[in-house]
Amino acid sequence: MNITIIRVPDYESMSRQAADFLLKKIRELSSPVLGLATGSTPKGLYEQLISIHQTQKISYRHVTTFNLDEYIGLTASDPNSYHAFMEDAFFRHVDIPASQIYIPNGEAAYLEHECTRYEALIDKKGIDVQVLGIGQNGHIGFNEPDTPFSQLTHVTTLAESTREANARFFSSPEDVPKQAITMGIASIMKSSEILLLASGARKAEAVTRLLSGNVSEDFPASVLHHHRCVTIIADDEALSEFTRKEEEHD
Ligand code: GLP
Repeated sequence: MNITIIRVPDYESMSRQAADFLLKKIRELSSPVLGLATGSTPKGLYEQLISIHQTQKISYRHVTTFNLDEYIGLTASDPNSYHAFMEDAFFRHVDIPASQIYIPNGEAAYLEHECTRYEALIDKKGIDVQVLGIGQNGHIGFNEPDTPFSQLTHVTTLAESTREANARFFSSPEDVPKQAITMGIASIMKSSEILLLASGARKAEAVTRLLSGNVSEDFPASVLHHHRCVTIIADDEALSEFTRKEEEHD
């Protein structure tokens, strides 16, 4: 299997291991390009990277970042936009120059043009490691089930289940945007390496399905079986169902 699984006891250790993984690239490469994700899963990773930057005085000035996605219909200053999330959770605490931070612009007047522009930037810089979370329905970025694997950065309509899952961040479920710009599956697959993080029982079913090895567009994360270099850092709870099924087979 092209996928390395690192099993850790809990969210805290997942975040620490993920930070070590990225730190290695930050130290080794002269101009590392990191693909970043939003959501609850990578928050601890960002906290670890902030703490390393502040306590060990490690600079990230040479790092470039590309975020996976952004809602359409929220201004960048809206607290629920992924611009605001990233600023708050990571960027304002570290020294990555603003000119090296890329996030799709969900306020662009011509969204199709924005998608092409973003994809061209990804091609120009090349992503060294793409960090991914996983949706309960197997989405990566905002690539919902049945997104063609061939799609590049595009405008997508969120699955109702995704809007419900993300409603916890909004004051009311109706406020969750219906559309987003997301890097496509083909954009994600261009990255030299992929680091997928999963924590908690909420993700156990998705992780089991991902690790089953069946590749199908109705489960977007399954495309990772076609990537040459994937590391999954998952905690005991996220791997619980997979382990139980493996033990049943033994
Ligand atoms: C969001 C993001 C994804 C993220 C997923 C899981 O919809 N677009 O990039 O991986 O949801 O989120 P969480 O980590 O909060 O479970």
